[in-house]
Amino acid sequence: MSASAWLDDAILYQIYPQSFADSDGDGIGDFPGALERLDYLRWLGVTTIWLSPCFASPFGDAGYDVADYLTVAPRYGANDDLTALVEAARTRGIRVMLDLVAGHTSDQHPWFRASAADSDDHRYIWRTTPAAGWVASPGSRPGYYLPNFFAIQPALNFGYARRHPEEPWRQGVDDEGPQANRAALREIMGFWFDRGIAGFRVDMAASLVKDDPGHVETAKLWQQTRQWLDSAYPDRVLVSEWGDPATAVRAGFHADFFLHFRGRAFGSLWNNRTGTHDPSWGDGPCYFDADATGAVDEFLAEWRDARSATQGLGHVALPSSNHDFSRLACGPRTRDQLAPAFALLLTWPTLPTLYYGDEIGMRYLPGLPDVEGSTLGPTYNRAGSRTPMQWDPGDNAGFSTAPADKLYLPIDPDPNRPDVASQRTDPGSLLNTVRRLIELRRTAPALRTGGEVEVLHAGYPFVYVRGGTHLVVVNPAGERRAVTAPVGVWADLDSQGVTVADGEIVAEPVSYGVFAAV
Ligand code: GLC
Repeated sequence: MSASAWLDDAILYQIYPQSFADSDGDGIGDFPGALERLDYLRWLGVTTIWLSPCFASPFGDAGYDVADYLTVAPRYGANDDLTALVEAARTRGIRVMLDLVAGHTSDQHPWFRASAADSDDHRYIWRTTPAAGWVASPGSRPGYYLPNFFAIQPALNFGYARRHPEEPWRQGVDDEGPQANRAALREIMGFWFDRGIAGFRVDMAASLVKDDPGHVETAKLWQQTRQWLDSAYPDRVLVSEWGDPATAVRAGFHADFFLHFRGRAFGSLWNNRTGTHDPSWGDGPCYFDADATGAVDEFLAEWRDARSATQGLGHVALPSSNHDFSRLACGPRTRDQLAPAFALLLTWPTLPTLYYGDEIGMRYLPGLPDVEGSTLGPTYNRAGSRTPMQWDPGDNAGFSTAPADKLYLPIDPDPNRPDVASQRTDPGSLLNTVRRLIELRRTAPALRTGGEVEVLHAGYPFVYVRGGTHLVVVNPAGERRAVTAPVGVWADLDSQGVTVADGEIVAEPVSYGVFAAV
């Protein structure tokens, strides 16, 4: 068993630091606030936290524009506050992962300022003549730099897989600038590993080497990084934002996410094309839609390919949503319809990743203004997924004592908005459902990441058996559905609206059930 086998049993939970818990009343979340909520996460069954970037930043892209990788942003606290959070989490059996923005920095990073003043500096990618998509130098250096996302995020130079006679400024992956950047990534990781960090989620991990067909050179870069990790920090992990687990895991990542921007595995489950949507993601229906027009086969086909490519090497991570994509409760999909979605997320052999607030059914809030680069297009507003965590029925939903107009983003104004405190005391709440399902996964190894699954019915309901012992029924349809049950006697471990009896599975509208063979 490898030293990082802890990831096999992980329940990942993404915290968006600015929106989770504010301890000092400035309207923005912080580390001491998150520390106070660790007991809640332990109660829920979370084993690993992933914090979105919490480093010094001008916040032109909500912190994905890093100005200093080794110092946290003052609005979240000091480095010591982060290490205190990590230590407090450790005593509760929870690991903390950070977010490594590997492909670019902020244009305010000292590396970039130096590069913009010195034509011999190769930490970034520069050309002398203008070209579409390139940005004019802000410094004394003439020329144009390549951005990686927004213009304020200059691409770090990891070299080009292919040289080009008309573009002599292209450097190879072994040149000095690209090699210095590789070394810098290891230094940053080592700095935080030495302070107890369990791993990194790596932002835009596929973006490093440019003009790299098949990501061959980018994969080599990560394989080399993984070799270093395995010898220097064997119990730490790297989880990529790549959106292609087959490629990313073979490139050395311990896990990679199914995501909205690539393939249909993620989109075919959750994307009802409200809140955040880009036409390039495809327009098909999604499976978790009460009108039952989706096809779980779409998810299954891609999952099977990803699974066979990653088996024994790493995991496919499936998020409930994230800071770039609509929450589960979005558009016509309401909180009452989420239990079957969590039943799948927590019983399927992917690595379950919960986005803060999804466990209580916080909704995507439409119509918010652009905050720190949240808006990416007319149908693509990420702010709606980034609103403050709703802790209790009190002022600001218990997130902050700041005046409402000082909050990072507004709280959901719905008088019926969900909150943690109210749902904790209600055994029938989504929160308690999610907690029970996490507990089931913990106590039944057959339900965990990487284990076996046999699909019995790929439709409405979706029916499968895990490890030969656990039968799962998921019915997002707004209609009652019945299918033949597998032979045997099945004990109900946890269900809402599903019965297995007399050779038949009956699934009421919007229902799920987990059963064990007796
Ligand atoms: C990733 C992040 C996203 C950010 C972008 C640029 O996709 O998840 O929030 O805007 O990278 O860093």
